[in-house]
Amino acid sequence: MDQNAKMTLDEILAAPQREVESWHRLYGNSGLVSMLKSLNFNRKFTKALGVRVWDDEGREYLDFLGGYGSLNIGHNHPRVITALKKVLPETPKMLQTTLSNLDGGLKAKLAAITPGNLSTTFLGNSGAEAIEGAVKLARSATHRTNILATLKGFHGKTMGALSVTGKDMYQKPFAPLIPDCDFIPFNDIKALEKALAARDVAAFVVEPVQGEAGIIIPDKGYLRAAVELCRHYGTLLIADEIQTGLGRTGRLFACNWDEITPDIMTLAKSLSGGMVPIGAFITRRDIWNSAYGGMKKALLHTSTFGGNALACAAAIETINIIFDEKLTENAVEVGDYLIAELKNIAKTSKVIESVRGVGLMIGVEMIKPHSGFVKRRSEGYSATLASLIAGDLLNNQRIITAFTLNNPHTIRLEPPLLITKSDADILLSALEQSCNKNKSYARAIFSTAKNLIT
Ligand SMILES: Cc1ncc(COP(=O)(O)O)c(C=O)c1O
Repeated sequence: MDQNAKMTLDEILAAPQREVESWHRLYGNSGLVSMLKSLNFNRKFTKALGVRVWDDEGREYLDFLGGYGSLNIGHNHPRVITALKKVLPETPKMLQTTLSNLDGGLKAKLAAITPGNLSTTFLGNSGAEAIEGAVKLARSATHRTNILATLKGFHGKTMGALSVTGKDMYQKPFAPLIPDCDFIPFNDIKALEKALAARDVAAFVVEPVQGEAGIIIPDKGYLRAAVELCRHYGTLLIADEIQTGLGRTGRLFACNWDEITPDIMTLAKSLSGGMVPIGAFITRRDIWNSAYGGMKKALLHTSTFGGNALACAAAIETINIIFDEKLTENAVEVGDYLIAELKNIAKTSKVIESVRGVGLMIGVEMIKPHSGFVKRRSEGYSATLASLIAGDLLNNQRIITAFTLNNPHTIRLEPPLLITKSDADILLSALEQSCNKNKSYARAIFSTAKNLIT
């Protein structure tokens, strides 16, 4: 038998990073290995707590990436660990032929904290799965097939979720995707009205703040107008709160900024404290019933692991932590400070194009090449100033960041919501230094954008 077949968990945990790298290269996504190495991102991290992580040489790092928005309560929150320990030894983890109190209790809790009359939840295992479920629900409930989404929006990479993700690069290799999906610009109410007017659209899928597009914040009132238009034309509005939800933008849900109740809301990422996979969609009872009401339709949409004990226990405790530790309020306080200071830095910086943010969902967009080789390379992510600065922040300043997926020129700052102002100050001074240091690099590669650099 191959030696690898006999490896124990302890041996795997203790393996040196060079061996880990070879496992990934030989048995996993070798292209990702090359990408991480080219950015010098690969490290052996051995410990994580709150906003901080440590590598195998004991060096401490600040995590401003926050698991792409999955770590609103920080790494390894002790209360979630206690909750998991409580259910680990004996509680059945999966017994689908009965009704579990953890699964039921989480659904009751979600009904209590989500806006308006959202009341009925389906639990799955990822963001993309939540979107799949929301789109299926909308088609079945409206008896329409068309789905409308926004350009540059991101909703996941399974077949249905990818079909409403507005980025050609991700879609093209897998065509044809699911039929009858169309896109309009984000934050464009006129385009929405035009697209809905024929009264044949089942759902409009939209992020309240576009995350992977580069942290794009719509005008105040956009969501409210969108909900009203959708109601008028019989379309269901799916608010994708997978990244914006649970305090990230300084409200429990970003929908709260416009005081709207969507028809369907999707959640995942931070819902279970970043420790156990989870995904959920929540809707009104009448919408649920029209798709899945009654015994005959009760098994039309199911998921083996959906509602498992570990995910539910972690999610219940995570929601309690968000309230008890006033994390939403902290996101406003530290987020406002960070955004204001970043804007100050941007005023004099030669490499920052703009700063956008709400709460602790912040994007710092770097200048970009307008033509030629570097522009083509940057489409593949490896040659953007944002990736260079993220690499510098990691390697020289020990701060973890990354760029947004649909806009690789934007550095995303989505730290755990428990960061302090002094954590923010560390990031601010590191970013300023890094931007200054990389001015000369920018000058070299952005020869086509000389006017931006003096
Ligand atoms: C807004 C949004 N929707 C959906 C997804 C997909 O979630 P997952 O990666 O868990 O499938 C993401 C992931 O980044 C997201 O940001």
